Amino acid sequence: MTDRYANSRRLFERATLSIAAGVNSGIRKMEQPVPLYFQRGDGSRVWDVDGNEYIDFQIGQGALLYGHAPAGMAEAIGAQAKLGTHWAAQCELEIEVAERLQKLMPGAELVRFNNSATEVVLSALRLARAHTGKPLILKFEGAYHGWADEGLVGFAPPPDKWGDDENPTHLHPSQGVIPEVLDTFVVARWNDPDHLRRQVARHSGQIAAIIFEPVMCNTCCMEPAAGMIETIRELCDREGMLMIADETITGFRFAPGGAQEALGFVPDLTILGKAIGGGVPFAALVGKKSAMQKIIDGTVVHAGTLNGNPLCLAASKWCLDHVISLGASHPVTANTLGRQLMTGLRALADQHNIPLRPQGPGAAFHAVMLKPGATEGPVTEYRDYVRRQDAPRWAHLRRCLLEQGVRAIERGLWFISLAHREADILEALEKAAPAFALHAAEWKSA
Ligand SMILES: Cc1ncc(COP(=O)(O)O)c(C=O)c1O
Repeated sequence: MTDRYANSRRLFERATLSIAAGVNSGIRKMEQPVPLYFQRGDGSRVWDVDGNEYIDFQIGQGALLYGHAPAGMAEAIGAQAKLGTHWAAQCELEIEVAERLQKLMPGAELVRFNNSATEVVLSALRLARAHTGKPLILKFEGAYHGWADEGLVGFAPPPDKWGDDENPTHLHPSQGVIPEVLDTFVVARWNDPDHLRRQVARHSGQIAAIIFEPVMCNTCCMEPAAGMIETIRELCDREGMLMIADETITGFRFAPGGAQEALGFVPDLTILGKAIGGGVPFAALVGKKSAMQKIIDGTVVHAGTLNGNPLCLAASKWCLDHVISLGASHPVTANTLGRQLMTGLRALADQHNIPLRPQGPGAAFHAVMLKPGATEGPVTEYRDYVRRQDAPRWAHLRRCLLEQGVRAIERGLWFISLAHREADILEALEKAAPAFALHAAEWKSA
């Protein structure tokens, strides 16, 4: 039998001789059966080096909200490249992008640019501690806020170490972290407003900020329970803490003004990444003027050689203009297509007795694969997810889908881009049918 991924395998083997572990981001090693190498993309499609075509629902881990190589974006970047790729100084483009963010995001009175959301998280937390004079940050168990020491506290703790329900441990998945950093975090479980109130009360007067992903896309695409966002806002106002919305994924995706527009709240600081650049390294910290004051007066350091890089700004201006031009049709279309795909996947799962339960708003959703005997109903928090998600079974189905040309994210997340059309969804479901049949047959006999 021919190997469908022969060229990717060859390149990966070669890469391990020059690139540590063969990949440039640890998570990419998870791709089975081999980390894929890509040649080109166009709209909803991407082609690997073996010539395999995929309907892509990974879309650059969500950064490609506008699809692969959207018409107009390359021209915008190219035109800027001819004028200069980098100045480490000011240009009018940065004001134009900042003004568009002010127009789009309810919480954007002022803006600062960086090149990755990981950096922006660090800026936001530093600013919050300086602004409030308090040492602790409250975050939610299982939430991912970038790969730095601070962003990964409380991410993916193993069940034997996660502590009791009332006091989740603040573990870090990496070695080499400054140990004291862990003690500057309080971890709470997502979607339990009463528990959150108790955690805040336990550390009253010590917490500088609550950081949260308004829809926890990274972990099972868990939407906020009734009262959750309101409780965060109320507690922040009452205790003088900053409300930091990490909209790296939700920004521009769930509404032109992000989850804050879709869910109707105004955070003090917002982290923007991924879709703000449509695939170039660009990110922003936006917030209320009062919360940005220490950057304004220079008592909090925020810097970076490549901040406000003109190539990234040209791309971002193109992206934001695209979002603005969609008006009220966004995110309706993406959510509708996503729900159509979720319903179709569920129907295929039912046909083959596969316990797949897609959940999420549509424009992004997670394919929950229930363990044998697991209870039904939406997954609402990290512990619930670990207890019910059959990760090896999902990995097997994902691989079967990949072989048919349907590409989802390894951990179960699916994104609908603005380039996806109904024909893509129908074709993806057609291709998914034999993948589900193969999975059902192989999994049963395993
Ligand atoms: C919610 C959230 N915050 C922060 C980050 C870090 O973004 P970056 O990888 O651009 O540094 C991510 C990346 O996936 C994310 O999903």
